Amino acid sequence: MTPVPSTDDFRAAVLAGLSRRRRAIPCRWLYDEIGSALFEVICTLPEYYLTRAETALLERVGPDLAELAGPGRVVVDLGAGSMSKTRLLLSALTRPAALVPVDIARRPLLTHARRLAEEFPALTVEPLNADFTRPLTLPPTVSGPVLGFFPGSTIGNLGRCEAMRLLRGLRRLGGPLLVGVDLVKDPAVLEAAYDDRAGVTAAFTGNLLARLVRELDAEIDRRAFTHRARWNPRRSRIEIHLVCRRATELRVAGRRFAFGRGSAIHVEDCHKYSPEAFRRLATRAGWTPVASWIDHGYSLHLLAPSGTSPL
Ligand code: AVI
Repeated sequence: MTPVPSTDDFRAAVLAGLSRRRRAIPCRWLYDEIGSALFEVICTLPEYYLTRAETALLERVGPDLAELAGPGRVVVDLGAGSMSKTRLLLSALTRPAALVPVDIARRPLLTHARRLAEEFPALTVEPLNADFTRPLTLPPTVSGPVLGFFPGSTIGNLGRCEAMRLLRGLRRLGGPLLVGVDLVKDPAVLEAAYDDRAGVTAAFTGNLLARLVRELDAEIDRRAFTHRARWNPRRSRIEIHLVCRRATELRVAGRRFAFGRGSAIHVEDCHKYSPEAFRRLATRAGWTPVASWIDHGYSLHLLAPSGTSPL
């Protein structure tokens, strides 16, 4: 099994990110065990429409997907989380052969994979604790035609170049790819989705500061930072920052970082696409759009590697 990212990796990412002129910590570090659990709560919030929209869409288009994908697929679930959408896909497909759930958070991955294996006893389930933005090696115990599954609009958390690089790399899976992509919509709806009234999203980003203390022994006044989510129309994305309400200092790994009032740590971007813009991106990354389904401002795209037979 691929090792989880280490404390050294985390420290190195934090020091590099805080040393930049525009301070930033990559969003992959939001997902430790607590962050993953908070994200599951986010998915149930009234403002966070993405999960409901994608679930409804998967339920609706299941029969179409089954027909297009055919029987016996090995589903490779990228960023599997709680695998709630995986269940829907597996239930829709004809006799899926295996599931390889891939996730960076090891314990939740193993727990959810075990539960899913109990629910689908005929299915081989081989969890892969890995960062799917890096090249993946599928376990040798699974064989059959692959169907990549990349739900949740996680593609939106990558910049355009990173998204392109990832999509290019995923061609190596050797089969079609089903991608969930959130669409551009009213900025008020978007900002509410990323700054909910109950403060769960704020706790999710705040957990990054808590991780600095827990894992890197950082000294920090966490209450000096507040969550901010703003729509940037030029870049077609929600930008999430931890913003300083008052001047403070963060000490970590023998280094000191001074923060003035109003200065910020960039922690996440959530890009929103039009269906055409996403299909263009996929095409440039070497995929042929086979089908797209759109509902409630959310889209699912089935892509086949270009230059191969359709599916
Ligand atoms: C995981 N990802 C698709 C979520 C999103 O909507 O971009 C992450 C998230 N961040 C805050 N709320 C949800």
